[in-house]
Amino acid sequence: MRLYDISQLPMLEGDILVGFIDKWDLLSHVEGDSRHLSLPVKEAMTRNVGRLDKRTPESALKPLFYRGQVAVIVDRQKFPCLVTRSDVLTRHALETAIAELEGGTRGYAFASGLTASATVLELLDKDSHIIAVDDVYGGTYRLVDNVRRHSAGHRVSWINPDNLLALEAAIRPDTRMIWVETPTNPLLKLADLAAIADIAHRHKLISVADNTFASPAIQRPIPLGFDIVVHSATKYLNGHSDVVAGLAVVGNRPELADKSGYLQNAVGGVESLVSQPFSMTHASIPLEQRLAGSITPQLIRLSVSIEDPQDLINDLRQTLTD
Ligand SMILES: Cc1ncc(COP(=O)(O)O)c(C=O)c1O
Repeated sequence: MRLYDISQLPMLEGDILVGFIDKWDLLSHVEGDSRHLSLPVKEAMTRNVGRLDKRTPESALKPLFYRGQVAVIVDRQKFPCLVTRSDVLTRHALETAIAELEGGTRGYAFASGLTASATVLELLDKDSHIIAVDDVYGGTYRLVDNVRRHSAGHRVSWINPDNLLALEAAIRPDTRMIWVETPTNPLLKLADLAAIADIAHRHKLISVADNTFASPAIQRPIPLGFDIVVHSATKYLNGHSDVVAGLAVVGNRPELADKSGYLQNAVGGVESLVSQPFSMTHASIPLEQRLAGSITPQLIRLSVSIEDPQDLINDLRQTLTD
């Protein structure tokens, strides 16, 4: 397999590779003897240039594939994959891997966790009602309650995941989605995924689980009945604090999978972390709601990871005594 970069845009005649153009949009190399492209290829490249004949200068030609795209050519003349925003081999590999890990049918990669969440929310029609657990990542809260409330007329009921009766009672005729984060950020509330998936099925609602904090190593919502899993892959899935990324996986719902693929085109580290959700991740939630949800200035979140425990204890002791 050869991977051609943007300075070697391939030209095709049918599915035969006939040459490349360089980064100046000029024909720079032709496979075989001729230094000229055949007329049909020239025509395909010059849709807006007007009448063509064999003397049309190469400088008048437009590329069939534009810069920023990369072609992967397997065995010289076959052209199986044009690498573009929606067709990238490495991204496909990542998407296949996360779909497998989560037990879903299709995976989708995004530029951030919040982009994955935003895209999944796009599955809803305007004016839909959402039931969401009452302790979610602040960005998810902002997205649903601030942004989509205004841009899409979405309404949300925030429900304690412990209270399944309240959750089911909150379902209205316009409810379309149940959004669960488990464990939640920052209070680590847990949800009974199988029971919530059952409620969603009975009421024909789309069920979504933000599985960022558990990761598929610990919990797999799709085999428990959920339709969609989202991830901030920025966190544990990446594990090195050097990537911002999001992932979504769709279970056995082909119509949701197709729609997600369409929408995708429109798209933690393992070190321990100390944060104060009140002033950081959840600062944009109204004060009253933060306090009612126990997100007080005194709440300090310790995300303890894999460092030596004694080092962590020493660090904490030093911080608290300084
Ligand atoms: C549970 C959860 N979901 C989603 C996100 C958003 O992910 P990203 O920062 O990759 O956009 C975060 C970010 O902290 C999160 O904690």
